[in-house]
Formats: sequence, C-alpha cells, structure tokens
Amino acid sequence: MEVDAPNDETKVFSGEACGKAILFGEHSVVYARPAIAIPVKCVKAQAFVYTETDDPGVLYARDIDRRVEFSDTENRSALARLLRKIVALFELEDFRWKVEVTSTIPIGSGMGSSAAVAAAIIKAMASALGRNLTPRELSGLVYETEMLYHGSPSGIDNTVITMEKPVWFIQGEPPEVLRVARPFTIVLGNSGRPSRTKDVVNMVRYRWKSEPEKFETLFDEIAAVVRRGRKAVETGNISEIGALMNKNHELLKAMGVSSNHLDRLVNAARNAGAIGAKLTGAGKGGVIIALAMPDKVKNVRDALRRAGAKEIFETTIEANR
Ligand code: MEV
Repeated sequence: MEVDAPNDETKVFSGEACGKAILFGEHSVVYARPAIAIPVKCVKAQAFVYTETDDPGVLYARDIDRRVEFSDTENRSALARLLRKIVALFELEDFRWKVEVTSTIPIGSGMGSSAAVAAAIIKAMASALGRNLTPRELSGLVYETEMLYHGSPSGIDNTVITMEKPVWFIQGEPPEVLRVARPFTIVLGNSGRPSRTKDVVNMVRYRWKSEPEKFETLFDEIAAVVRRGRKAVETGNISEIGALMNKNHELLKAMGVSSNHLDRLVNAARNAGAIGAKLTGAGKGGVIIALAMPDKVKNVRDALRRAGAKEIFETTIEANR
C-alpha cells in the first residue's frame, strides 16, 4: 500500500502483518502431524519503505533501537541477515532504500514475531516494487526468512500470518481455512521470559532421537487431540475445545517443553474460570493461551496478571459460517 508521504520528496510504502497463536499441535506439527493456528490481530508488525532517501540501504527497527546497513555484509545479526535475505528474494542488484519496522508482537513469545516482521517488510517492499504478491507467494517468501532463525520450521507461522484466518495445517499439504461454528475468546498471558524456537525445537528433536517410541506416541496423541479440536471448532463445542487445550498442555509437558512459569500461568487461568489453557508456540517461555467465556474474561486476565504475566492480550475468533 502507498501511504501519505511526509513531504513531497519522499515516497513511502507500507505493509503490516498480525501475530498468531497455535491452538493445538505445536512441535508435533514439525513431525508431519496436523496443527491448528489462529491469527492474533490485536498485535502487529508494520514496515515502511522509503524509496527516495539520502540514507544508504538501511533497516531500522525502532522498538529495539537497531539499525543495520545493507552494505555491511559482515553484520551477522538477525536483522542484517533478514534484510540481506529479503533483498536477495526480490533479486535486487542494488538496495538503497530505507526500511523502518516496528512491532507490538513480543519477541520470542511464540506469537509469530519473526514471521510477522518479515511479512510486513516483504509486503512493503513488494508494494514499492509494484509487485502484487498472492498470499501463497508471500507465505513462501516469509518461510524462506523463517529458515534463517528456525532451522526447520514447519511453515505454520508464515501460513497463518499471511492467511489471517484460523487454519488447519499439515506440512507439505495445502492449508485449509477452518470453519468456526461459534465465536470463542482467547486470552494470552506473556510470561515475560522469551525463548528461542530453534533451541526448543532442537531439544525436542534430540529427545525424539533418543526416545523415538515415546515421542512418536506423544506426537500421535497430540494429533488425535488436534483432529478432535477441529471437530469441536467446526461444531461450536466450546467446552470440548477447552478440555482438549488442557489435554494438549499435558502432552506438551510430557515432551518437556513447559516450564514452572508457564504452568503457573496455565493453572491461574484455569482456577479463574478458563475452560482450558495451554502453552502456545515452542514453549520453555513465551505466552500461554486460555479459552474463556465472555463473563470470565476479566477474571482470567486479572488472575494471569497476579500470577506474573507481563502482558495480556485478547482475541476473539469469529464464527464464519
Ligand atoms: C511454531 O510456532 C512452533 C513449533 O511447532 C515450530 C514449528 O512449527 O516450526 C514449535
């Protein structure tokens, strides 16, 4: 999208992308099992591309006070690598634009910050180049950038962030937009302890290799939860969605990806009346999600805050049929 220029000399192009949460199936999705993810639209990443500027080719991340120059090829930081990757994906020979990015998605929280930042920049750059990307093309480009941080991502983050709808996802298969029979509200509580997806995914891989039978069984049990979860969402069986979230959390605990802080938040949400609660994303830190009926949302938010949540978000997944 082209936006109002701050002065006549400068052209500005913008792009934005929302956050996400995994409702069911994180980790097992890396092992060809299904998962369900939802967009979280109350948080977002935004990027602005200035095509007429005196700066050299640069990327500014205002919230974290970082600036990287495209010509500084020695810079190995995540942002510098992201900029180089995106410029390469667009096959630009030279890069002299200024890109500014800002995001309200907590970093290392399991809410898709890296995919959303990349999606926002790619959208803004595509707009500056006069290129129309389909959601599928955009998702593919974001996936390429995700490989910089996550090694072997399943592709669920870039998929849900670019589709901006609840999705049923199996690696290597076309994603499906999930039918939602009844709206439901999810409260998210951030433990304030970031974790690196790559590290937790590697830890699970290590454990899976040393105890393949145990982990294959856990992945299959989670897959069964995800399939039942799909049915519950499609039929509007809210109490079943909650019960399955609880079950999914127990299975994630058995995989070793929860933590005392996450368990404390999950328990606080349940005790405050949430129908179900679980960690979401890679785990070992980041956020938890809780399913709450509208009359319990405030209780759940207050309880999460008392249990130490540093930030609380809320999103309602609307019915679509
Ligand atoms: C993604 O948000 C969470 C994991 O399932 C990793 C992946 O799918 O790539 C843990």
